[in-house]
Amino acid sequence: MALELEVIKTSGKPLGKVSVTSSSTVKDLKKEIGKNFRLPIERQSIRNGPKGKDEKDNQQISKLSLESPNTIYVKDLGPQVGWDTVFFLEYAGPIVLYGALFLLPQCFYSNKTIIEGKGADAKNIFPFYIFPIELVNNICGGTTIKVQYTAYFAGILWTIHYGKRILETAFVHRFSHGTMPIFNLFKNCSYYWGFAVYVAYHVNHPLHTPVPTWLFALGTFIFIFCEVGNLSIHILLRNLRPEGTTVRKIPVPDANPFTKLFDFVSCPNYTYEFGSWIGFTLLTGCLPALIFALAGFYQMTIWAIGKHKKYRSEFPNYPKKRKSIVPFLI
Ligand SMILES: NC(=O)c1ccc[n+]([C@@H]2O[C@H](COP(=O)([O-])OP(=O)(O)OC[C@H]3O[C@@H](n4cnc5c(N)ncnc54)[C@H](OP(=O)(O)O)[C@@H]3O)[C@@H](O)[C@H]2O)c1
Repeated sequence: MALELEVIKTSGKPLGKVSVTSSSTVKDLKKEIGKNFRLPIERQSIRNGPKGKDEKDNQQISKLSLESPNTIYVKDLGPQVGWDTVFFLEYAGPIVLYGALFLLPQCFYSNKTIIEGKGADAKNIFPFYIFPIELVNNICGGTTIKVQYTAYFAGILWTIHYGKRILETAFVHRFSHGTMPIFNLFKNCSYYWGFAVYVAYHVNHPLHTPVPTWLFALGTFIFIFCEVGNLSIHILLRNLRPEGTTVRKIPVPDANPFTKLFDFVSCPNYTYEFGSWIGFTLLTGCLPALIFALAGFYQMTIWAIGKHKKYRSEFPNYPKKRKSIVPFLI
């Protein structure tokens, strides 16, 4: 049976009428709107009213409870960019920027600071440090660069973290949306790139005092433990969703002990992420790393509370004892 719908933008602007059938889905409707009103489907969010929530692509139109009869609302999400592009750029940036401060200190710190630096001669630490140091020495005038072991290992851990995120984006995550607003690209890159420079400048500063060995070891243990935990949660979430679908299920711990945190919180990947940055703060003894950890925790707490509420409204049998991000508290 044919169904004629009046399409109105959530801003109030009427676009016109489209015809679908009673068995059409939201995705079919988006295609019609795209064809008739030149609004690409990835920019559209279909709503049952001006303030309604986003309707899923596989939802049948005849089953939507429309606020006004035969009227459908569409929100223009603005220009979009692929998730993979955003994630690749926001995560590759910190590796490149941190690497620049880590490998080319003469370009960022004064010669006097470098001469007064406390570490060991960089050439004696690890062989792959030699190439850029020789290069920089030639360009900048030949001061011996000293590197602290803690800063060296912190650089490796930082690179592992963001390398892991790029690999997860490519091979683990099964996102439900192919795109996001292009503005997010600038917002996310500013956040990650800005913090990368801020943290790297302080961690790699030639006059930075390294933490005692026991604190370095403790921080490294926490960091690695939480990275493995975070990866374990991402793999569990991937396995919840069959390939090519947008299915959502209640996550429950599997045989991997790191996933037990799901018994206590809805977003253990965020809990582990925060743990990693606390570990990094301890192993570097660096205040900017703590500020980065707290900024991330603040953002992830807001998201975790939203995701937790969504789970509870979506699944009536959702475990009652779970919190959002911090066991027993938040
Ligand atoms: N340091 C920081 O400031 C910061 C901030 C945010 C994130 N991060 C890092 O980035 C990682 C990814 O973040 P995110 O916000 O994308 O994580 P997320 O929302 O937990 O999603 C991870 C993946 O799992 C899927 N998923 C989530 N719940 C699901 C369910 N119930 N059933 C099936 N699939 C489900 C998601 O699909 P959908 O596309 O459907 O959501 C997505 O593909 C975090 O774990 C964290 O390590 C860091």
